[in-house]
Amino acid sequence: MNYALIGCGRISPNHIAAAKANGLNFTSICDINMHNMHDKILKFELDPIHTYTDYRRLLEKEKPELVAICTESGKHASIALECIDAGCNVIIEKPIALSLADADEIIRRGREKGVKVCASHQNRFNKSIQKIRDAVDKERFGRLFYGTAHIRWCRDWEYYSRAEWRGTWEQDGGALMNQCIHNADLLRWMMGDEIEEVVGMTDRLNHPYIEAEDLGIALIRFKNGAYGILEGTTDIYPKNLEETLYLFGEKGTVKAGGTSVNKIEEWKFSDQLDDPEMVIRQFAENPPNIYGFGHTPLYTDMIQAIENDCEPYVSGEAGRRALELILAVYKSAAEGKPVKLPMKECDTMDFVGRFGKKIM
Ligand SMILES: NC(=O)c1ccc[n+]([C@@H]2O[C@H](COP(=O)([O-])OP(=O)(O)OC[C@H]3O[C@@H](n4cnc5c(N)ncnc54)[C@H](O)[C@@H]3O)[C@@H](O)[C@H]2O)c1
Repeated sequence: MNYALIGCGRISPNHIAAAKANGLNFTSICDINMHNMHDKILKFELDPIHTYTDYRRLLEKEKPELVAICTESGKHASIALECIDAGCNVIIEKPIALSLADADEIIRRGREKGVKVCASHQNRFNKSIQKIRDAVDKERFGRLFYGTAHIRWCRDWEYYSRAEWRGTWEQDGGALMNQCIHNADLLRWMMGDEIEEVVGMTDRLNHPYIEAEDLGIALIRFKNGAYGILEGTTDIYPKNLEETLYLFGEKGTVKAGGTSVNKIEEWKFSDQLDDPEMVIRQFAENPPNIYGFGHTPLYTDMIQAIENDCEPYVSGEAGRRALELILAVYKSAAEGKPVKLPMKECDTMDFVGRFGKKIM
């Protein structure tokens, strides 16, 4: 399957490794920054490969079957739509878009053109998360009462100064939209997807040089009567502390922890179908960074979805649901009242000026 990558920054090594591990025919690569592109070509020994600084030319010349979009978030939608119109299947880095209208259009046009859209929420493929999902699917929790997702990470001036788009409303959003959207996805997915309402608070406490929030807290009421707590921040001193997901049900208590929900740390079920000690030992991974090992199985699944004409495990709709939850927190925080779901339209640009101007 002919494959192309657009955007050769920080997350691109995970895509390159996943494409290689899945035996894709890596025909072409694109970045407007030649240094970033050639750096990845050298590091991953991609030569011979066709290089482009204009993705439109790449689409025209190469006609790839599968494209990964790894540019800044605010460009995902426009690039994805052009790829879809050119007949390409797309893996879009998270968040799939920064507005619900754009996410809807990506999903609609993907269906119209008969191509697959996958949102890169790779943590769904963590061993720990797969094990928990299996317990949810087998209804081992009984009634789910509530779930919590905490992302307590550290991002400093150096991180934001490396790419100007980070922390802007137009291209990114803040801690919730960028760093925490993976865990928001997991929480929503585990709790049955359907949300009644969200109450949120957001603030910019420690990063005056970004436009958006560095702390977001939300209460969620799911349609099935369960509750959720979402907490995400980049304010933790002095380094990444944890990313946790807890699920509490009538007959089960589970915690996934580690720096990126990569370990099962609590496993208690009344059915005693498995040995908690064994589960805790077996379902732990030690990835070299917080991005984990999930991109490779995400690619494997997407390739199968294309070959077998079925939905990818993390579809465009899943990407939209995660985006909607974060936008609901933003809206509730800005308006000071609960927000009912589903939401029709909301855009990070609705929140421009919320915390005042950037102070460099
Ligand atoms: N899945 C994950 O765990 C994960 C982790 C980090 C980042 N991300 C997401 O990946 C995306 C990229 O993040 P990053 O940290 O790698 O950013 P980055 O700034 O390091 O890289 C972005 C790259 O895209 C290139 N680019 C911009 N416009 C382009 C265009 N029109 N054509 C071709 N290339 C273009 C830039 O020059 C740059 O090299 C973001 O949406 C981010 O949210 C996902």
